Amino acid sequence: MTAAIHPARSARLSMHDYHRRTKHHLDGYAKGPDTLDWDDQPDPFRDYGQHPCVQLPLTESGVRFANLAAGRPVPSAPLGRDSLGALLSCALAISSWKQQGAARWPVRCNPSSGNLHPTEAYLALPDRAELPAGLYHYRPQDHQLGRRCRYPAALADALFGELPRDGFLLGLSSVPWREAWKYGERAWRYCQLDLGHALGSIRYAAALLGWRVTGLAHLADAEVAALLGLDRTAEFEADEPEYPELLCLVSPVDTPPAAAYVLPQDLAIRLKALSWYGKANRLSTRHHYRWPLIDEAVRSAEKPRTALIIDPATPLPAPTPYRCDLPAPILIRRRRSAQAYDGGAALDKDDFFRLLDHALPRPGLPPWAERPARASLHLVLFVHRVAGLPKGVYVLPRRPDIASELQIAMRDAFQWQPVPECPDHLPLFHLVGADARRSAARLACQQAIAGDGAFSLAMLSEFERGLAIGPWGYRTLMREAGLLGQALYLGAEACDLQGTGIGCFFDDALHDLFGLQDQRYQVLYQFTVGKAVHDGRIRQQRPYPQLVD
Ligand SMILES: Cc1cc2nc3c(=O)[nH]c(=O)nc-3n(C[C@H](O)[C@H](O)[C@H](O)COP(=O)(O)O)c2cc1C
Repeated sequence: MTAAIHPARSARLSMHDYHRRTKHHLDGYAKGPDTLDWDDQPDPFRDYGQHPCVQLPLTESGVRFANLAAGRPVPSAPLGRDSLGALLSCALAISSWKQQGAARWPVRCNPSSGNLHPTEAYLALPDRAELPAGLYHYRPQDHQLGRRCRYPAALADALFGELPRDGFLLGLSSVPWREAWKYGERAWRYCQLDLGHALGSIRYAAALLGWRVTGLAHLADAEVAALLGLDRTAEFEADEPEYPELLCLVSPVDTPPAAAYVLPQDLAIRLKALSWYGKANRLSTRHHYRWPLIDEAVRSAEKPRTALIIDPATPLPAPTPYRCDLPAPILIRRRRSAQAYDGGAALDKDDFFRLLDHALPRPGLPPWAERPARASLHLVLFVHRVAGLPKGVYVLPRRPDIASELQIAMRDAFQWQPVPECPDHLPLFHLVGADARRSAARLACQQAIAGDGAFSLAMLSEFERGLAIGPWGYRTLMREAGLLGQALYLGAEACDLQGTGIGCFFDDALHDLFGLQDQRYQVLYQFTVGKAVHDGRIRQQRPYPQLVD
């Protein structure tokens, strides 16, 4: 069974088209596999085969999550095997193994649509004891760094010489096939959302070490591909491409912020001259279905090198801290997506405000960048059970200046009543009173979790504006949605609740409900928060029993 190959198109696919073609509708889902070939499920772990691997330790930190999320300073750790072990064990590592009957599967610190994990991570490191300068691939399966290539001194100097003390580069990529196997054409959206979650997860873990993570969003994808060795196509299976997404600079917060970083001009040539270790493993054997629309979308959204322009977020007062004493690593590893919610449990109003407050971008507070761009996504909330708030639909414009524009775009009947008792800087408005549980669940592809949580929400993007920078703006918007989702996941845990990202929803049915009639605003992601009902049949086991923490 092979999906029809689309005739070659002369014009590039626009992101408007990709987005439109991958919408779920009440009367039909976006194109995906008719049946799932479970024996062909892609390997969630990249393995480059025989290459030198360095075991990372599992190290702990006693920093409380509430302090981390509120931006309390943490002394910067020196770069080395221990600190990298700590970073990755809270960012991208396996956080637990789950077992039900004979089935056993790992879950990680970062969530992923369908637990399929399309995101891969690479570190370009300067010379450190036990870690010679070079490019390393992170292996969550055994919490190791596998070396892909070693940098000669001159190249290490060209890459790291201008960086702050202990600075290094961290690259992220996506393997869309892992998601497409299950979700077909819509899967590339999930890769982008997952990438935002992974970046957010890395930012929280880095903050624990007193490090900042700056996305080098001005670089071209081709430059990132060269650095990460992803342009070495002969070392990858042709039908399982891995694409560059983002290169980040990681540096101690007590060093000056880096000026715009540029990669050496002749980098690709210098890297080609090196010996590289290993070859990417095959992830699936059969590939019954193919989804050329995704390759087309990737090609069309490829990013060239651009100027570094940031329209900065409005300054805000510090967020109201979470009332949670848990050390951050414990909270991060305990984060889980709830599969079912207690439809009777309510959320405290102050915790609701705290969660929303932490969803606003503030400089240097994880998961946001040190100089976050102004928010491009706004929240439309279905409040089911928040003690002290009437049930109904609310909106939180994540920057105040967009409120009147949103008001004009949305349904006339909405009331736009400011919510009393809400912190002044949190522009939350009540749109309409309603019991929206059934609608919320129906619009989230009939998933009860959207109606049984205390609240659920839709992330409404400034879609046209986001795409005005170029087609890669689609990736930027999706990434912001993933970052926001990560803040909500960890915030929910800090309120002793759970969250679940919802990638499956009926796009235009939601737009109709909100009265949105054109593409200026589009929902990119949904989320739900509440009291989880745990499945007693599932047992949890330690992530790396072979490693002592
Ligand atoms: C982008 C994204 C979309 C998701 N969509 C859904 C969804 O529609 N329904 C659902 O039940 N879970 C959804 N999830 C939750 C994943 O299934 C969950 O993250 C995964 O099973 C791993 O479990 P964990 O989050 O507990 O680590 C989504 C997660 C992400 C990151």
